[in-house]
Amino acid sequence: MGIEALMVALAVLALATGGSAQLQYGFYKNKCNASDVEAVVQGIVKARFAREAPIVAYLLRLQFHECAVNGCDGGLLIDGPGTEKTAPPNLSVKGYDLIAAIKAELERRCPGVVSCSDIEILATRDAVALAGGPAYTVRTGRRDRRQSRASDVKLPGSEYTAAQAIAYYAKLGMSAYDTVLLLGAHTVGATHCSSIKNSRLYGYGGKMGATDPAMDPTLASTYKKYVCPNVTSSNGNTVYLDDQWSAVKVDNNYYKNLQRGRGVLLVDQNLYRDSSTRGFVDQLANNNGLFQSQFAKVLVKLSEVNVLTGTQGEIRKVCNKFN
Ligand code: HEM
Repeated sequence: MGIEALMVALAVLALATGGSAQLQYGFYKNKCNASDVEAVVQGIVKARFAREAPIVAYLLRLQFHECAVNGCDGGLLIDGPGTEKTAPPNLSVKGYDLIAAIKAELERRCPGVVSCSDIEILATRDAVALAGGPAYTVRTGRRDRRQSRASDVKLPGSEYTAAQAIAYYAKLGMSAYDTVLLLGAHTVGATHCSSIKNSRLYGYGGKMGATDPAMDPTLASTYKKYVCPNVTSSNGNTVYLDDQWSAVKVDNNYYKNLQRGRGVLLVDQNLYRDSSTRGFVDQLANNNGLFQSQFAKVLVKLSEVNVLTGTQGEIRKVCNKFN
């Protein structure tokens, strides 16, 4: 091909891709002096996981709350009045300190190169693999948004029906199957009695004293007697979202629990109550290999929601402040 034909071909290609930059595998390769950016992130996550395994739960939730609000753009990380971080559902998000520590190390090695939004996605990826979940590759090249508003934070409620959860995730380009997979993140981490006392233990369906009939009676009585007794002082008590032995393991035990009426949040158990999602739960409960491969795919899909690339946004100097 002559040079002119090549130029035309390139111009057409640029038009076809909208001329906008895209995420790429290994975007940071050879961009951080002698450092391998992904290896640096992985090293820091590994050290943290070794002393604080629940970091996997903190990071998964952080990725969700980040990507579901205006996309994976670092908006959740900004400090200050009225930012996303100050919205009620984000007050219990953790893991910000790890993102800041990774950013500081990368800034030392190559200032102004690696975005905070990419660090969130890479760190979550690494923690998931360390917790026995899938090892997956992610594309990078995200940039950080110069905007973060609490009023944009619209996250799903723990009492959602399956249909409400599906409708919520459809707005992020996710299917019903994706919805069931994403909730699989509740294979790690914990909540508090306040999230289940009214909705499941003492006020199911808006009826005073009613317990969710879908809850395994043995589990319900354990919660009522020992973990979440019907007194205000139990509100902050910890309830694991998966069995305690599996609380830092990324596996399909969450789905097995739903089959047995041992889901924790109402939205979790609703995935089994509703006949439109029950079949997916059964498939995933019966096949950990399927869960692992599909969970990786849905996390990648989540990680690419509405990203900024190219010259959009900025590469922050520190993750909790705009430049
Ligand atoms: C309908 C969708 C969802 C609802 C209603 C929901 C709700 C909740 C609630 C109420 C908690 C407990 C917070 C607390 O008590 O501090 C929680 C924890 C958690 N959520 Fe979700 N969530 C949803 C989807 C997701 C998704 C998509 C992910 C990740 C991909 C995720 C990951 C987590 C994790 C890992 C925890 C445990 C956090 C910890 O231990 O600190 N959730 N979620």
